[in-house]
Amino acid sequence: MIGQRSLFSDDPLEMCTDLDQLKELNLQCRRCGLRDGCNGVVFGKGNPRARLMLIGEGPGAEEDRQGLPFVGAAGQLLDKILAAAEIPVEEVYIANIVKCRPPNNRVPTREEMDACLPWLWRQIELISPAIIVLLGSTALQGLVDPKGRITRVRGQWLDWNGIKVMPTYHPAALLRDPSKKKPAWEDFKKVRDLYRQLKEREARLNLA
Ligand code: URA
Repeated sequence: MIGQRSLFSDDPLEMCTDLDQLKELNLQCRRCGLRDGCNGVVFGKGNPRARLMLIGEGPGAEEDRQGLPFVGAAGQLLDKILAAAEIPVEEVYIANIVKCRPPNNRVPTREEMDACLPWLWRQIELISPAIIVLLGSTALQGLVDPKGRITRVRGQWLDWNGIKVMPTYHPAALLRDPSKKKPAWEDFKKVRDLYRQLKEREARLNLA
């Protein structure tokens, strides 16, 4: 169990046993006001059995239009980074702290994050990744540390409920400030190396 829910609760999120059921429920969510100002819920995309999950802030205009996370300019950069790290995009799962686009792409409020986080917690439980990459300070503050500073903790492995967590800059920050590209790449190299080790270990175990 992740978050503040009881193991024996009849929480509808807990009752969802796969991502399709959870998405179905999430599409009906009205836990905060964001849903009134956007086209729809952007649940997440990718491999439901991913060992690596990437978490961003919230959908932008293009994501809101297409109903998928990271499909705009930041998403294209993220695809390039994953390709450079030789991490196949079909192997990962990508989601956001908030599932609905905040007006004018403003940073979601703490209340909006708190209202939305149970969806992400349940996504993480169902996917059960070994590694999570947090993209930017909203992801860091939403999931791990409300007062966390991305400039301070980026590049350091954190532990969150037994999952290895790497905070790094958001790809949109790299587009705004190219001097952040080099440190972000250093962070992704750490992710690449651990991911490789993990895949190799799991492949060996599966053969044994
Ligand atoms: N930025 C995010 O944080 N998430 C998206 O899905 C797109 C841009």
